[in-house]
Amino acid sequence: MIIGGVLGVIVDIIVFVIILLLLYALSMVWPPDSPWAPWWQMPKDVIRKMYRMVGLQSSDTVYELGCGIADGMVIANKEFGAQAIGIEIDPLRIMLAKFNILKNKAKVTLIKDNFFNINLSGATVLIIYLVPKALGRLSPKFFKELKKGTRIVSYKYTFPPEIRSKKLQLVKEDKKNEIYFYKIN
Ligand SMILES: C[S@@+](CC[C@H](N)C(=O)[O-])C[C@H]1O[C@@H](n2cnc3c(N)ncnc32)[C@H](O)[C@@H]1O
Repeated sequence: MIIGGVLGVIVDIIVFVIILLLLYALSMVWPPDSPWAPWWQMPKDVIRKMYRMVGLQSSDTVYELGCGIADGMVIANKEFGAQAIGIEIDPLRIMLAKFNILKNKAKVTLIKDNFFNINLSGATVLIIYLVPKALGRLSPKFFKELKKGTRIVSYKYTFPPEIRSKKLQLVKEDKKNEIYFYKIN
């Protein structure tokens, strides 16, 4: 009876692990800006390069739109002393982000919401890893809410060409690391 119970628990754990592995495999082929793509993350050394490129300082307030598990926010606060505000829609990633922030004893404000609902006017720097379609959809919000001089640093993707204008200037790019630095004029 006892052995049967223990075996049952072992089988449950194995099934649980298999489900997790299947979800992981599935998430690899999901679009990067979907709430079910947890494993599309900016590498930490690239995050540091992104912040160095925009000259992040302790006087800055960084917003990350879709902060995932908040590595970018932890680095902004712990290594650059900046105020960090991460917005994330996915409850699972919010949970992992909370754990990450706690583990690193970082000071990060986490907002569990759709970033379209959040006013971004407090940002001096935005860090983003979102597909061009999402960047295009966000642009009117950026032009409406972001202050002149706000730096936007994007990983992997550039703004669609029709969005680029005098108001959104590409300041610098690092094609090798796929980093694009824009400024609101
Ligand atoms: C490509 S991942 C990048 C995650 C994180 N920036 C990183 O590099 O580790 C995109 C993130 O945006 C989040 N996301 C997508 N649409 C969102 C929305 N409308 N509001 C808030 N978060 C969103 C996803 O849940 C995902 O965590």
